[in-house]
Amino acid sequence: MCGIVGYVGGRPALGIVLEGLRRLEYRGYDSAGVAVVAADELLTEKRAGKLAILEKALAEGDIAGIAEGTSGIGHTRWATHGGPTDRNAHPHLARDSRVAVIHNGIIENFAKLRAQLEADGVEFTSETDTECVAHLLAREMVTDGAQGLADAMRRVCRLLEGAFTLLAVSADAPGAVVGARRNSPLVVGRGVGENFLASDVSAFIEHTREAVELGQDQVVLITADGIEITDFDGEPATGRDFHIDWDASAAEKGGYDYFMLKEIAEQPQALADTLLGRLKENGDIVLDEVRLSDQDLRDVDKIFIVACGTSYHSGMAAKYAIEHWTRIPCEVELASEFRYRDPVLDRSTLVVAISQSGETMDTLMALRHAKDQKARVLAICNTNGSTIPRESDAVLYTHAGPEIAVASTKAFLTQLVACYLVGLHLAQVRGIKYADEVAAVVEQLQRMPGKVREVLETMEPVRELARSLADAKSVLFIGRHVGYPVALEGALKLKELAYMHAEGFAAGELKHGPIALIDEGCPVVCVVPSPAGRGVLHDKIVSNIQEVRARGARTIVIAEEGDTAVEPYADHLVRVPRTPTLLAPLVTTVPLQVLACEIAATRGHDVDQPRNLAKSVTVE
Ligand code: G6P
Repeated sequence: MCGIVGYVGGRPALGIVLEGLRRLEYRGYDSAGVAVVAADELLTEKRAGKLAILEKALAEGDIAGIAEGTSGIGHTRWATHGGPTDRNAHPHLARDSRVAVIHNGIIENFAKLRAQLEADGVEFTSETDTECVAHLLAREMVTDGAQGLADAMRRVCRLLEGAFTLLAVSADAPGAVVGARRNSPLVVGRGVGENFLASDVSAFIEHTREAVELGQDQVVLITADGIEITDFDGEPATGRDFHIDWDASAAEKGGYDYFMLKEIAEQPQALADTLLGRLKENGDIVLDEVRLSDQDLRDVDKIFIVACGTSYHSGMAAKYAIEHWTRIPCEVELASEFRYRDPVLDRSTLVVAISQSGETMDTLMALRHAKDQKARVLAICNTNGSTIPRESDAVLYTHAGPEIAVASTKAFLTQLVACYLVGLHLAQVRGIKYADEVAAVVEQLQRMPGKVREVLETMEPVRELARSLADAKSVLFIGRHVGYPVALEGALKLKELAYMHAEGFAAGELKHGPIALIDEGCPVVCVVPSPAGRGVLHDKIVSNIQEVRARGARTIVIAEEGDTAVEPYADHLVRVPRTPTLLAPLVTTVPLQVLACEIAATRGHDVDQPRNLAKSVTVE
């Protein structure tokens, strides 16, 4: 969702804020704005559209003094209330334009608050929920200065319902930025003679790697020399200090045209990093934070995996391994649906929440529902210190590094590996697998970075094929067993990046309806399981490929090296290395990522920032 940056220090704020916004633009990019306090004046600019449009407006507007001010805030927006227009862009102003506010999240009681403010004669200039916060702050700021602004923020937060990260600056409180958070992320960057606030650390990573993560319902006041944290009632509070173990270059494109291309290429390393140190000498699997006893894990009699988007697909693919290894029933659910159907949960249910960002509101709400019902929650997450791992009983971090492209790639592969490790750990503590059996699977996993590297080295024909598919009306994906979620993921990638009609199907379901979609030349991507693993499965999908081909489909077959049975039916054959059946999604997904990325680029789309999407969706 929206990206938020704040800076106070001795340097000009504008450049630092804009640079931070650039790094956060993946969170939302339908409008952008800044507010800088300079010489006791509040100077602002905001525009609908991408950050570049704001930068152009700033260059053309040449607002006197804005480049010199040493405190400021900035925002990139993903619209919720009110369309992406200049007026609805943040910051929102009040107090005769002496207070500016930016916001991520949704103020759920905004309609009531707005009605009250309007009854008091306040005039609104936007359709946003955020603007009411600006007017409330103006009303509650009874004294000038940094403390006056922080007090006002605390009073306002007590009136708000919903999810929010808020930052405010005021011409009447120079040298200070005040932030607040509830159900939405905010981190402080601790500098020397300067401090930062941001939705995530990538915004200030080039200035400092020391950070403080704010807790729920906290307000923070930053000045050049201080960081003061309280709860909403003004009682002193503390955040969680942490060191960021990746540097600014990890969040740069590094010579690639798109972050997505870089992130696809980083997958072997991301897998290796996620696996690093996971197997103790005695054969035990190591998770990161475990606030559950082995007995709690032995008591698990049901697993629910909850997640959204690509993370949901990783859960779907991992279910096969988890059930096979643990013999515990495992269901995979869309987080956005989970709590509304009143799932049967109790102390012996393990809910595995998978989230790259750790902030997806649907997943967070599913997790909270599970905790309310006393279920145990284990998070698989790529973002240290984010809300989902913080609220979970156990955590396994995927060490994929920062993922900037909206369409998830390396996070997906590392999530799969993390799920496999969780499955092995469960099997181990429950005594279903011996240490040597676990070690054998870990060894297979350790070969996967090399296999993914092999796939990446042979992708040129896939790119060529992609260019020839750029005008297709629709592309279908079919798979069986673990290949089914891979088919869903391939279709999702194409939808989100290329804006093409694409659907994934369980190959066996084709004959029950979807086969009617096939006409002459329709591209069908077929994800074929290893002939070595499940012979029956393999034969069945070969039949399915013949069925679609007989109806005119142009078949693109993803199959293992040495699988000659598919050759007669493949118009295009993409080879992947031999891999144990349950781990196959780690290699079969990669050509589908490359395919979607290349089709989108050929169609002229911004691969990293697809329309209407955001990387981290912090609203329900
Ligand atoms: C958004 C992104 C998807 C992502 C999903 C879940 O919709 O656009 O790429 O898969 O959120 O995100 P998470 O951070 O929870 O894995």
